[in-house]
Amino acid sequence: MRDNGAPAPLPHPDALTAIAPALLAWYDGHARDLPWRVGPAARAAGHRADPYRVWLSEVMLQQTTVATVRDRFVRFVTRWPDISALARAPDADVMAEWAGLGYYARARNLLACARQVAASGGDFPDQAETLRALPGIGAYTAAAIAAIAFDRAETVVDGNVERVVARLFALRDPLPGVKRQIKDRAALLTPRNRPGDYAQAMMDLGATLCNPRAPRCPECPLSRYCAAHAQGIAATLPARAPRRPKPQRHGVVYVAQRLDGAVLLETRPPTGLLGGMPGWPGTDWRDDRPAPAPPVKADWQPARGVVTHVFTHFHLRLDVMVARPQLDAEPCRGRFVPDFDPGALPTVMRKCWDVAQDALDDLDSRNNTGTTE
Ligand code: ADE
Repeated sequence: MRDNGAPAPLPHPDALTAIAPALLAWYDGHARDLPWRVGPAARAAGHRADPYRVWLSEVMLQQTTVATVRDRFVRFVTRWPDISALARAPDADVMAEWAGLGYYARARNLLACARQVAASGGDFPDQAETLRALPGIGAYTAAAIAAIAFDRAETVVDGNVERVVARLFALRDPLPGVKRQIKDRAALLTPRNRPGDYAQAMMDLGATLCNPRAPRCPECPLSRYCAAHAQGIAATLPARAPRRPKPQRHGVVYVAQRLDGAVLLETRPPTGLLGGMPGWPGTDWRDDRPAPAPPVKADWQPARGVVTHVFTHFHLRLDVMVARPQLDAEPCRGRFVPDFDPGALPTVMRKCWDVAQDALDDLDSRNNTGTTE
């Protein structure tokens, strides 16, 4: 609904049917070159997209930018080139490969999905409805795979597409409430011809020309059909309801490294934040100051500096304690890991490791000074 309670008017029906061909013509000349993509020329020559690569890229691209995903995608498919290779991979290897991408439930679901698909013959279902029944595949991902991998006329609406559609129809109500209207309008535009290319063309338009703050309307193949452009309000849409500020939580992590190099790590519980990932033992993350909870007997010292990290629903501040426990010290949590790869840690735990380095060096120089003087 608009400010006056009336729905935004629809463009003329001729414009509705003209939009997809205009966008596809633009895509033919401007498609981004992406490692998971079969471009428009190759598709026209009969090349099909590999559903495994489409699925993997869509899961990686949930909550993560194209710039970050590009190289990570290539590494991943080099290591596990098809669904059966991934289905056979040990959980810890996949979680380590996912480190730094965040939203680790995606990686757990990815494995569960790969194993389910591999166990039932290795082919992905080719309909959105059946894809949706697989672990980690929601409405958006199911529509994207069905459209891009199987050329089904599904309507694919991610954040970029939301912006394009809100502008085309000048939908002034704020997100997230306006999402339903956006989906309904987007569905009016989805063509039967080349729906896979069309879905990707919408994404590319949103990512390159129809960008959030400074839309490049003079270059846009759809500007003549765009109600927001006609009204001079493209840059202001979609509107967004004010966000609630995120609460601040606190915690303490304990980074213990023995003199033989082994570090004390634990695997976080399979569900919840950073689920299934390795991490430093620590306190709960709470609104107030947590009580100390050292995981092994040692002379614990505070590191200088705190670690801050932003999660979807809160800001986190972590104090870091460090120690060099004795070789025979028995931890009450976690286990000492000899060949430790900081690259396998989730980002917040990597930050803790970085902060701990100087403090561990300080401990060593203090101990050395103590013994040599
Ligand atoms: N964002 C989400 N899915 C995408 C895709 N297939 N190509 C480009 N950007 C995307």
